[in-house]
Amino acid sequence: MSVVENSYKPSHALANVRGSAIRDLLKLTEKPDVLSLAGGLPATELIPAERISESAARISADPEALQYTVSAGVYSCREAVARYLGVDEPVGVLLTHGSQQALFLLAHALVNPGDLVVVDDPVYVGALQVFQSVRARVRALPITAAGLDVDALRELLEAGERPRIVHTVSNFHNPAGVTATAATRIELARLADRYGFIVVEDDPYGRLRFSVTDIEPIAAHGDRIVRLGSASKILAPALRVGWMSGPKEVIEMVELLRQGADLCGSTFSQLIVAELLDDSAWLDSHVDRVRSEYRLRATTLAGALRHELGDKVQFGEPEGGMFCWVRMPGIDTSRLLVDAVNAGVAFVPGTAFGVDADFSDCLRLSFSALAPDGLHEAVRRLAVAVKNDSK
Ligand SMILES: Cc1ncc(COP(=O)(O)O)c(C=O)c1O
Repeated sequence: MSVVENSYKPSHALANVRGSAIRDLLKLTEKPDVLSLAGGLPATELIPAERISESAARISADPEALQYTVSAGVYSCREAVARYLGVDEPVGVLLTHGSQQALFLLAHALVNPGDLVVVDDPVYVGALQVFQSVRARVRALPITAAGLDVDALRELLEAGERPRIVHTVSNFHNPAGVTATAATRIELARLADRYGFIVVEDDPYGRLRFSVTDIEPIAAHGDRIVRLGSASKILAPALRVGWMSGPKEVIEMVELLRQGADLCGSTFSQLIVAELLDDSAWLDSHVDRVRSEYRLRATTLAGALRHELGDKVQFGEPEGGMFCWVRMPGIDTSRLLVDAVNAGVAFVPGTAFGVDADFSDCLRLSFSALAPDGLHEAVRRLAVAVKNDSK
């Protein structure tokens, strides 16, 4: 056999990362006439482009803004994020290239091949891929209406399993839509203390809450929590500014690893984010606008689903974030996607998010990217596909 052939072999770590059979299907959804409920994108028209470009023009006038920065991130932005999160010390905050990089670095800093990592089922696929890339032994526990199933986690721990990390999306879960209750959060923090694992509280959607009542983060209930956040959903994904906050020891490990990953983030983007987070009057009114538009879109989607599909769909009313998780009893949603794309609408079938559980009759619908008219039309097309599918 030729040596050249061998040179394209992936590492064991990469070979362990699950490819997505769904990805091929989703390519179809990029056809121009397809209305997409599939992507997890914020609404482009709600990105504060003008405000960002004003800041960018002012900030880039100083060449220092275009220099390298330290690996932990520009200090003034760490301060701004600390204030935004209500964390005392900027030393407990590290800035990353989106919160996805925080997850990647954390896993590489803390997990050895074969270590147990617990994730949600259905899972945020970006987290699954990260933990597979470090060859963790992944166990998925159900997401219930109260968040990660802490009873199942307790059973696992009592049976002698010792995870390094328990990862969960605490607010407006991607894809399940649910928010962990206060009781779930308190119990997760307690179990982390008792059994010595780290909770990764992945929270890019917390500010996109439709009602006014906030629930305290898991991080408010213990010390073994690393909380991830992001400017992507409230400002703009292309800024690629995310953050992690947590124990200083963990932050320092990630900082060291980060030097080898990309040296540092973008000084320029971080300075823009610092300015926008610090302008709290502007930020509050901007986020209010995004939230009320998403609330309108979520209500529109839910109403259209009930109107067009009636008892063929089961779902919880979205209370924030960008996603509605729908069950369609008796329908194989991967198969439905083919008819749906032919009818001009796309979604992500539930199997894309399943680890141990079977979500073949579920689908994730994103309501953030289409305006109400588009949502009505998308659901009308979905109903056409369902009718065709059941023929
Ligand atoms: C749950 C969750 N975590 C993290 C991310 C990563 O976002 P970013 O890297 O843009 O901060 C996403 C993106 O969709 C997400 O849904």
